[in-house]
Amino acid sequence: MMQVIQTISELRGVLDATRARGGTVGLVPTMGYLHDGHLSLVGRAVEECDVVTATIFVNPLQFAAGEDLDAYPRDLERDRALAERAGCDVLFTPSQTEMYPEPMRTEVTVASLSAHMEGAARPTHFAGVATVVAKLFAIAGPCRAYFGEKDFQQLAVVRRMASDLSFPVAVVGCPTVREADGLAMSSRNVYLTDDERAVAPVLHRALTAAAAAVEAGERSGAAVRAQMTATVAAEQRADLDYAEVVDAATLEPLDELRPGATVRLLVAARLGRPRLLDNVGVTVPE
Ligand code: PAJ
Repeated sequence: MMQVIQTISELRGVLDATRARGGTVGLVPTMGYLHDGHLSLVGRAVEECDVVTATIFVNPLQFAAGEDLDAYPRDLERDRALAERAGCDVLFTPSQTEMYPEPMRTEVTVASLSAHMEGAARPTHFAGVATVVAKLFAIAGPCRAYFGEKDFQQLAVVRRMASDLSFPVAVVGCPTVREADGLAMSSRNVYLTDDERAVAPVLHRALTAAAAAVEAGERSGAAVRAQMTATVAAEQRADLDYAEVVDAATLEPLDELRPGATVRLLVAARLGRPRLLDNVGVTVPE
């Protein structure tokens, strides 16, 4: 039976007891409205940890004014059933006042990694993410914490935050789970109309075509950016925000793609109401 816990003290009690008997704790932070992408993280945690805690908390700190905090999709009953079926042991669903009993005076920011791409589009977003994830690490004391490559920049921010602040946790990145037509799963995909949904795989198409060009010998970052931009621009409904070619470890934009380099291609586009994000990795051939 999965336990559903709302308070920090009760969660600490359960997870302290796990560690006291030598068990490992896996943590899967989410904002709920679970889909197979989230559940793949739970599944990986179940394979690797003794007690798996998933968290569902729509974190106000990472939404700016005018974003979709109030409209963010929620369905706790369905999430409970899905998490339990995936093998989750503990579901932590704190209220806003449990997480933030007082206005926050402390903020965790990860400089430079948070500045471009998503950080340029949403200047306060990654501080909100880093702060809540630091809090969840402090609350749960996880041995391993699972994040999706779907949000590749977020994964880099969380890794760096955990390393800079010496959290005793291994941050595990997990591959993006996609719909059959390539669209990366996301809770926000419910915002797409049928017409927009039909267009949405263009992001993944742009990424895979650009990755193929790199594998076929393209060495210019600018050319790869231009190719992705052109693919997305061909769909009139999609409004491209950025198409980037970066070093997968540092997220620094690359002009020259050196043989052997581990590169990440990332795109973001508004399609109707939601902004869609996607990315793929490619190694530059020798
Ligand atoms: P959320 O968007 O709910 O995502 C929770 C986790 O699931 C993140 O690590 C995200 O990268 C991963 N994920 C989402 N879609 C995925 C997919 N298609 N394939 C694989 N993994 C996927 O990201 C957040 O919530 C929040 O910012 C959070 C980290 C919980 C902090 O509030």
